Amino acid sequence: MEYCGRSIGEMNYRNIVDHTAEIGIKICESDYQGKGIGRIILSVFIKELFSMGFTKIVLDTNLKNLRAQHIYELLGFQKIRVNHDSWTDQLGKWQSSVDYELTPERFRDHSDNHRI
Ligand SMILES: CC(C)(COP(=O)(O)OP(=O)(O)OC[C@H]1O[C@@H](n2cnc3c(N)ncnc32)[C@H](O)[C@@H]1OP(=O)(O)O)[C@@H](O)C(=O)NCCC(=O)NCCS
Repeated sequence: MEYCGRSIGEMNYRNIVDHTAEIGIKICESDYQGKGIGRIILSVFIKELFSMGFTKIVLDTNLKNLRAQHIYELLGFQKIRVNHDSWTDQLGKWQSSVDYELTPERFRDHSDNHRI
């Protein structure tokens, strides 16, 4: 991801099964988080994935990551399940994750957000 010529983070996708893409996003530069960029860049990315022929987009996030969950739900993602104590972090602490999915009918495009 580039913003005004600066590399600020990354997004990725992979085709997991049957026209389904799994995605990830990280705005690595913390100065650029919370400024409305995430919903714009994700909207652009999601539109492109649907136009490429994917019919479902899935992702997961940490149960504690309320900011990310807020953005995903704003874009129309549906919470599918919560996986309690499903993995351990680098310190050996149990963490929980939330699975989300999005179909084209539910997508709410926020690429024209004018906050930034
Ligand atoms: C998650 C991420 C993509 C969001 O993008 P962003 O540009 O920072 O998000 P935005 O500025 O568009 O919006 C942030 C929203 O979260 C809300 N928010 C912030 N903290 C929150 C919290 N603790 N609980 C609920 N909502 C919260 C803000 O109020 C804002 O929503 P609003 O405009 O409707 O009020 C970005 O912050 C990021 O990459 N973070 C680091 C890595 C990460 O968490 N990746 C996702 C892992 S699955």
